[in-house]
Amino acid sequence: MNDHIFIYGPPGVGKSTIGKKLAQEYQLPFIDLDQKIVGYAKKPIPKIFTEDGEAHFRQLEQECLSAAINQSPSVIALGGGALLDPENRIMAKEKGRILFLSGHLPVLINRLSSSETMRPLIASDLRQKLKSLLLKRKDHYDSFSLKCETDNRTPEEILWKIEKMLGQFFIKGMGEGYWVKVKSGGATTLGAELSALHGSCSVMLVTDDNVEPLHAGKIMDSLSTAGFETHIHTIPAGEAHKKLESVAAIWESLTTARLDRKSLVIALGGGVVGDLAGFAAATYMRGIDWINIPTTLLAMVDSSIGGKTGFDLPQGKNLIGAFHPPKFVLTDPTLLTTLPENELRNGMAEVLKHGVIDSRQLFEQCNNGFNPPDVYSEKFITEALSVKVKMVQIDPFEKGPRAALNLGHTVGHAIELLSNFQIPHGFAVAIGMVTEAKLAHKIRLTKKAFVHELTTALQQLGLPSEIPPGMDKHKILETMRLDKKTSNKQIHFALPKEIGKIEIGIVIENLEDIFESLE
Ligand SMILES: NC(=O)c1ccc[n+]([C@@H]2O[C@H](COP(=O)([O-])OP(=O)(O)OC[C@H]3O[C@@H](n4cnc5c(N)ncnc54)[C@H](O)[C@@H]3O)[C@@H](O)[C@H]2O)c1
Repeated sequence: MNDHIFIYGPPGVGKSTIGKKLAQEYQLPFIDLDQKIVGYAKKPIPKIFTEDGEAHFRQLEQECLSAAINQSPSVIALGGGALLDPENRIMAKEKGRILFLSGHLPVLINRLSSSETMRPLIASDLRQKLKSLLLKRKDHYDSFSLKCETDNRTPEEILWKIEKMLGQFFIKGMGEGYWVKVKSGGATTLGAELSALHGSCSVMLVTDDNVEPLHAGKIMDSLSTAGFETHIHTIPAGEAHKKLESVAAIWESLTTARLDRKSLVIALGGGVVGDLAGFAAATYMRGIDWINIPTTLLAMVDSSIGGKTGFDLPQGKNLIGAFHPPKFVLTDPTLLTTLPENELRNGMAEVLKHGVIDSRQLFEQCNNGFNPPDVYSEKFITEALSVKVKMVQIDPFEKGPRAALNLGHTVGHAIELLSNFQIPHGFAVAIGMVTEAKLAHKIRLTKKAFVHELTTALQQLGLPSEIPPGMDKHKILETMRLDKKTSNKQIHFALPKEIGKIEIGIVIENLEDIFESLE
């Protein structure tokens, strides 16, 4: 990440508290600009005001801001009037993103009354002075676009909201941690971004023969311009090629291009390319770093996050694999504009699943149907992928709650396999979600109204909800028992109770009878 994050807002809004927490979350240095000024002037801020005047304070503030900006990317908490000076504002805008924290007067007063920090501009008669300060700065404060309301929110809730607003997450818990960044047009500036993160080296861009002519050129250009030695390996597109032979071909290209342990693999494609390139990186020279640039909706909101890599065997999907998270996931929604509509729909099934798991807002958006331009927005993609980010953060190795992400997949995988992959993954998951919701209703976990709500939302997205007429339910059950998520021959379901509530590890007694009786 090569940008600073500036935290700005009125006195008492929590700039230092939130800034410190955000820096911890992102594992970035934290700079409290007021503290820097105190250190620089060697006296407390009230004393600078009384002895030297506000103009001198503002001068020191500008010098300290300019010094902070020249350091490595940091989270910088600014004083409540630091960006009144247009020069400071331009400086901050050029070197990072300004996040404005807002809060209403009573909340600010409450927070300031319990704070020990002395603020000269509002000392004594706090209510009146703060009120007129907010009034005076109203237009200035209103002029910031990236705003986070802090009233009635815990610091953790504010933090999560900020991460989503920035479209930037640092995923910990597996290896050293890695960035997921959502940025429209980001693919064209990959080279600069990677230089800051990794330093120049040899890279192997792995892609497929659909994506290569559409998107590889701009990425190779950006990498070469930034000084990377570039190579490309293209695999034939499609799930049928997610096999050992494709991994072996990538290994061969890596050795031919003499990539070493400091080199990088970059995956540019959907879930198939990501899984294969990630696995090749996991195993080449006992593991080298890799970067993921997902190009399908499904890969953006799902497969690019969580560190799972691997390939299929004739006996089953993803039977061989490794946890090997990328160093960086760069999600550029503009890459979706070339994706065929059926593939977008395929990804929408996973988006709806995320809505069911943890976001009423996302569910409602899906329930309103499917409008491709909305899907290409940073906001939509960030909301959709944030559910997976949250689950992976809580449970990186799928020992518990992450299993909620399997919603629709126990039945869905079996349907996908039995259709010989003629039914695409997302479509199979859509049918799986409704079938599993019906099971949940049969065991009185959920209401019939929920099954109806889910079916309607899938219909709005143009996704199926019924098991195909010719497909034998008995065979679906048999196939489910062969799935790698089955343990001790018992199928463990993740079943929906309601939106935002998924029960995991559910074993259903008399499953055969119940399953056969489903309508
Ligand atoms: N690792 C994980 O955690 C995880 C999670 C979910 C799914 N998966 C895996 O992901 C795979 C499915 O991923 P997918 O749906 O992305 O399939 P995919 O990679 O096969 O891509 C679908 C199709 O879209 C084409 N395509 C990709 N991006 C494009 C673009 N921008 N413009 C035009 N065409 C484009 C591809 O060439 C392909 O034909 C499965 O193998 C599944 O097992 C992995």
